[in-house]
Order: sequence, then C-alpha cells, then structure tokens
Amino acid sequence: TIACPVHLCLSSNGVGVEEEEDIRRSDFPPGFLFGTATSSYQIEGGYLADGKGLSNWDVFTHTAGNVLNGQNGDICDDHYHRYLEDIQIMHSLGVNAYRFSISWSRILPRGRFGEVNLAGIKFYNKIIDSLLLKGIEPFVTLSHHEHPQELQDQYEAWLSPQIQEDFAYFAEICFKSFGDRVKHWMTINEPDLFVLMAYISGEYPPRHCSPPFGNCSVGNSDVEPLIAMHNMLLCHAKAAKLYHEHFQAQQGGSIGIVISGTNYEPMTGKKVDRDAASRALAFTIGWVLDPLVFGEYPEEMRQYIGSVLPQFSSMETESVKGSIDFIGLNHYTTLYSEDCIYSNCTEGGDHAIKGYQQMKPDRDGILIGEPTAIDGMTVVPRGMEEIVDYVKERYNNIPMYITENGYSAPQGEAVTVKDILNDTKRIEYHKAYLASLARAIRNGADVRGYFAWSLLDDFEWIYGYEVRFGLYYVDPHTLERIPKLSAMWFNSFLTKNDSFS
Ligand code: NOJ
Repeated sequence: TIACPVHLCLSSNGVGVEEEEDIRRSDFPPGFLFGTATSSYQIEGGYLADGKGLSNWDVFTHTAGNVLNGQNGDICDDHYHRYLEDIQIMHSLGVNAYRFSISWSRILPRGRFGEVNLAGIKFYNKIIDSLLLKGIEPFVTLSHHEHPQELQDQYEAWLSPQIQEDFAYFAEICFKSFGDRVKHWMTINEPDLFVLMAYISGEYPPRHCSPPFGNCSVGNSDVEPLIAMHNMLLCHAKAAKLYHEHFQAQQGGSIGIVISGTNYEPMTGKKVDRDAASRALAFTIGWVLDPLVFGEYPEEMRQYIGSVLPQFSSMETESVKGSIDFIGLNHYTTLYSEDCIYSNCTEGGDHAIKGYQQMKPDRDGILIGEPTAIDGMTVVPRGMEEIVDYVKERYNNIPMYITENGYSAPQGEAVTVKDILNDTKRIEYHKAYLASLARAIRNGADVRGYFAWSLLDDFEWIYGYEVRFGLYYVDPHTLERIPKLSAMWFNSFLTKNDSFS
C-alpha cells in the first residue's frame, strides 16, 4: 500500500484499500456495547435433541445438492451441549453483550398454537442466566432465516398471511418466558437478504426462483419476494405491538429488526447511476425500514413497481408504523450500482425487485475492495460510515446497533489450521470497519453497540463449514474451540484499550 493522506488509497494491485487506523475502545462512547453474534442453526447442532422439531434448514440440508459438500447443522459446533464453555469464552474475551437467536422449532416443535417444548425453554433460560451471571447482555433474535418446517408444509410459511398469528404466538411465549431478563429483542434477521435468497435466486429454502435469476423452476416471478416481505413485516408488527402493549412497561426492554445493510455507491458519476445507487438502498434497506418507521413502502418502490407492490390496509399501516425502538444493522460490504432503466445492463439487472439496477462488486473488472470468501462481499471499510450516515439521515437517528460485521478469508487462502489461526486480515478488517464506525459516531450517529460476526467458525448456510467468520476455530473432529489471533486482538482491544499494532 502506498502512503496516502486520505482514508482511501490504492494498493499495488489497484484494489481500493483504506488506510489502517489506530482504533481503541476508548474511541467509542462510554456504555457502548461490544459483543459477538451467532444464530441458532449455525452453531447449536442437537437438531432433534429433547423434543425439538424439524426446521426449514434441517429439511433443506438433508436434501442432496442444496449445500456445498452435502454438509448440515445436525451437530454443528454442538453449542447445544457446550454453551457453558462458549459463554466462558465470551467472558474471557471481555465482551459485554451477545447476540444469538432462538430456534422456533425448539420452543414450538410444530410451529403452531399448541404445546410448548419445555426443554427448549429450559435451554435458553440456561443460556440467558449464564450470560447475565458473567455480565453479558443478551440480544435475542426470534427468527434468523429459520422457522419450523411444518409451517412450510401446511401453508408455505412466509408466503401466507397465516404465519402472522403463528409468529406472534411464538414471540409471546418468548417475551413471557425470557423477557424478565432479555431487554433487547430483534424479530427477524435480514428480511431483505432472505427474500432474495429464498424467492429470487433460489439458494435458500424453499428454493423458489424468479427469472431472470436462479436456476430452479419453482417460483412466481416478481411477486413472491414481495409477498414474503409483506408477511415478514406484518409478523414483525404483530410481535412488536404485543411487546409494546403488554410487556414493555413491565419488562423495560426494547424491540427492533435486523437489516442486511449493504452499502451502494454509483458505478459512475452519471446522474442515472447515482439515482440507481439511491434506488438500490431504497429497494433493500428502505423496503424493510420505511414501512416500520413511516408506515409505507419507499416512494422509489411505489414509483417503479407500484402495480405489484402489496398494500397495507389502514389497520396494518397503523401497526407497522413506528414499530421499532432500534435498528439492527448487519454490515459487511459495498457494491457498485449501475442504472438499468436508461442503459442496458448485462447481468439480469432488470429484475423488478432490484429496482432496475445492476449491483456489482467491480468496475471494469477492478474490485471495489479486497475479496473475501463470498463473491460480491469485498472489504470496503468506508462503507460502514456511509451506511450508518444514510440510516441516520433517512430515519431520524433512531438508535442503531451494528448487529453483525465480520470477515472470511477467500477460499484457498487460509487452508491449513496454522493459516486459519493466524488471521491478520480479519484483525485489519475489524479495525478498519471500527475506525469507520467511530467516525460516524463522532458525526452524531446514535450507534450503541457493535457485534463481531462471529464468535465461532460455524455453518455458513449454503457454503457449509468452509467459509469461516469466527474469532475461534472449531476443530471438526474434537469440536475444541481454539482462539485465532483475532480473538487475542479483540481481547486486548476490549480489556486493555490496546490498538494491537
Ligand atoms: C448475515 C447473516 O445474518 C448470517 O447468518 C451470516 O452467517 C453472515 N451474514 C455472514 O454471511
């Protein structure tokens, strides 16, 4: 990297990188929370333990061809049996918060009204109590890409309005059982990303596709992702209403939702591309947050795809509007956005849900940032500040938490255990993104916490176990947790205010 005065420099291979900054815990406000994040299917295992029912991912991963190398989460990191060790690890790291999700099918094995699986309640009670004993604040997600398979079989889950009642019932059980101790609830993880993966590209269950994307035959063009999102927003609203009306006063917590906050920059300085980038943000972040803050889908969506966009009834509008106390922002990367309304895009960018723009990680073959394990996810630290600013401006600085941020080395780059453990690039990633976040906070953004994704190497959905985001490596045979260099960095950042340079 050549020395440069500004944040953005060019490395020798022409890839945009940003100057490494000295970042310390004391650069963040007092009381700022630092944690790690996980999700149930990605770490728990115990897939049929103690009365748990099957989830959509249990069934999906057991069908050949869906996940790289046929891997599944049956045993996974066996967090179901090793949670105490994992909480001890977090304690020794020095975090004061932990974001995890509750497996709906552990609590309600069949998903619907009916018998609660007490063993499931007991499991999460033990987690919550053990965290609190160590001074770690639990942040709980109700659905992280997961739901009981029975909802799929009976009424196609998110595609049916029936799911709203079932989700609210599940949420109520969680508020009643855990709300005396859990003060931060998130209803659904990344609805914006999930509907694209599940109903457009056909990579996540139920593997529906919408032409011109995807390579499977099931699916119903532009409409399914819109319907799924509509139901997710109404599920959120029903749960949030219950919480606000019946639990919040007594329990004193708050409720929000988590978005996949990818940042978009215009491919060129042309106005049409700048408009495309702002449409990209409206069609992802705005798609979820505009209804929950303002009560309606973004103006940009109404303008371009108004004829297929579902409508909220006036009662529904009332229920979605103002239904979040905070915004959970998962941020990893920045993409370019190029107009496809007035110019021709080559890669199927003209899908309605994408707002008629093409989103790409490169310009003329040059990546916007250093590559990672996942195509389209490159390292662009400035994106953190840009996206936090955007959310701050668009939503009047509603309190935010960075509910995920993390790095996975390109496949083939860290193969031996020695290389996996010596993860200097992960440290650089977190430091640069934290420095960018600190700038946004200094400029007035009300961000209250940061969660590194992830505590452990885990089941990375369709990529299985080969894509690693963890601060800890998990030995595939013994399941032993081994700290990577990044765990040591995080520990000295948190406990010694050290810049680790
Ligand atoms: C966001 C998702 O919430 C999480 O489940 C996933 O593992 C990470 N991104 C990394 O891709």
